[in-house]
Amino acid sequence: MAELSRIGVSIDSDLLHRFDSYIAGKGYENRSEAFRDLIRDRLVGSAVLSGSALVVGTVTLIYDHHTRLLPEKLTDLQHESHALVISTLHAHLDHANCLEVVVLRGKSRDVQKLADRLISTKGVQHGRLVMSSPETVSHHTHKHG
Ligand code: NI
Repeated sequence: MAELSRIGVSIDSDLLHRFDSYIAGKGYENRSEAFRDLIRDRLVGSAVLSGSALVVGTVTLIYDHHTRLLPEKLTDLQHESHALVISTLHAHLDHANCLEVVVLRGKSRDVQKLADRLISTKGVQHGRLVMSSPETVSHHTHKHG
């Protein structure tokens, strides 16, 4: 059996309460197993495509635009990688919260890297990358010419 490591995680109590409700509904008996499954799931999802595969991706971000310098940081990151960014959709959800969807196209590793930087920017409350590979689907779903 692999050696176990213990880690401490800081999490706001409201989020933890919702997580506990979620894992209770899924039948987990403790948080540790639920955390391990979530981590495994994310690792598998990001290892499916080779780094040089051409992909399109959407990054969905939820954030409070009052967070100091956060909108500027997200815009700067996109400008730094403008060759990857096809389009950005921004919706003002309510007085504080914004939804941003960034459409990316490029090599899998570059798309993943930019998505990771956007999602991990301090203040982003929720972020998710969904990638698809036009190389692998185009032969079957599109007819050209
Ligand atoms: Ni907004």
